[in-house]
Amino acid sequence: MTVRPMQVLYVSTEIHPALKTGGLADVNAALPRALCEAGADARLLLPGFPALRDALEGARRVASLAPRFGADTINLMRGSLAGIPTYLIDAPALYGRPGNPYTRSDGSDWPDNLQRFALLGLIAAAFADGGIDAFRPDIVHGHDWHAGLACAYLAARGGDRPAAVFTVHNLAYQGSFPGDEFARLGLPAHQFSMHGLEFHGALNCMKAGLFYADRITTVSPTYAREIQTDLHGMGMDGLLRSRAGALRGILNGVDTLHWNPATDTHLPAHYDALELAGKQRCRAHLAGTLALTPGEGPLVAVVSRLTPQKGLDILLDALPSLVARGFTFALLGSGDARLESAWRKAADGYPGRVAVRIGYDEALAHRLIAGADMIAVPSRFEPCGLTQMYGMAYATLPLVHRVGGLADTVVDASPAALERGDASGFVFDRPHVDDLCAAFARARLAWSDAPLWQGLQRTGMAQNHAWSVPALEYLAVYRELRPQA
Ligand code: ADP
Ligand code: GLC
Repeated sequence: MTVRPMQVLYVSTEIHPALKTGGLADVNAALPRALCEAGADARLLLPGFPALRDALEGARRVASLAPRFGADTINLMRGSLAGIPTYLIDAPALYGRPGNPYTRSDGSDWPDNLQRFALLGLIAAAFADGGIDAFRPDIVHGHDWHAGLACAYLAARGGDRPAAVFTVHNLAYQGSFPGDEFARLGLPAHQFSMHGLEFHGALNCMKAGLFYADRITTVSPTYAREIQTDLHGMGMDGLLRSRAGALRGILNGVDTLHWNPATDTHLPAHYDALELAGKQRCRAHLAGTLALTPGEGPLVAVVSRLTPQKGLDILLDALPSLVARGFTFALLGSGDARLESAWRKAADGYPGRVAVRIGYDEALAHRLIAGADMIAVPSRFEPCGLTQMYGMAYATLPLVHRVGGLADTVVDASPAALERGDASGFVFDRPHVDDLCAAFARARLAWSDAPLWQGLQRTGMAQNHAWSVPALEYLAVYRELRPQA
């Protein structure tokens, strides 16, 4: 008997390297590929943003769809992105805008975002008929609020429909719109209720995913627990508690195609766990290009969106005392204008010891993570976090707040963990300057003990975060819903 592969329509918005605003793009480039390698027939469905249209290889039209949501021309193109079979929705009126896929250049949301992402959900659900490219998925797997309405449109179909899986990458962004816009969606009226996608009178796309999906996943086991609490639930904790039986936490992986110090094309030198000499060359190169003259202590990298989530205001407050203790800092980030200017000011105040680059720079991100001794991720909340895992793969010790995926990936260098031999970084418990500084003080001590430091580096490098592991966990979730596939 031949077993038919599980057919998965993977619905999202960005993918590395063509279009990226954060870790979601890294996940989207790696997870569908890993699902295919594990035997699934996984295909992406993405909006036809210009950067994605330009990157789509072997594009051909597989369907033309009726005008909807203000788009008079809607074609579905099939091709491949990052080696993954991909459907792009070519609807220039909604998606033909360069730059950030969600916002205008001034950072404000596009006024028709509801229509833009409703079309994504509507087309995802339309695959249920099997009439598009003869592909009838067993599973429609949506990611974050942009794909939440796919679950509502699928639920509205009832009957024999693909199962819906919804992954939360960040509960802070919910896609909330005025309730009177619900009428635009063409969904049954009963869905606009507390037992549906209505949330305090508004239309909430995240809630559509959380309420209607057959399974909910999020990107680390700890975050899966945290979002059921008042502290981290962003108002959805009650609903998530009621759906606890359908909720799973599956830790993200590391895409070793792009993040491997032995092969990384962005680096001036290569290295691996057996031979770390290349890392010193990366450090010297980094210090040179950023005009840094590191002190006695570790050189610390930060590569991050600059938003309140990331806790970089806490690090900023700690900076004077950390520089005085010999630490040197190099930050690459962009986002919140006030944080950008505060960090720029810090760089002006500590020439040679604090370097700041505002903007998005993929190559510099790799050079920072390779060339630094440590990477700081002091996030107030962090669903998974990828840079601490990249740091460990690059022998760059993470210093993190014990929250979400940071707690699941970094083992604090406590005496007990050092004794066991599984310590891989430095973890602090409360998002306050004092706790952060105490962790840095422990890092400074460890730095003075070269064999200890190298042991921590090697433990981090030995972690297996291959995407093949989470891919099997996702397949197990799909099989709970469609055991026959
Ligand atoms: P989040 O998705 O919340 O931003 P993650 O740690 O999951 O956080 O992923 C962040 C991704 O974005 C990583 O690949 C990181 O290297 C990258 N990144 C963040 N800021 C920048 C930047 N300014 N320039 C280049 N890459 C960045
Ligand atoms: C979100 C989260 C981040 C996670 C990423 C990929 O952007 O903020 O923690 O690693 O999604 O899942």
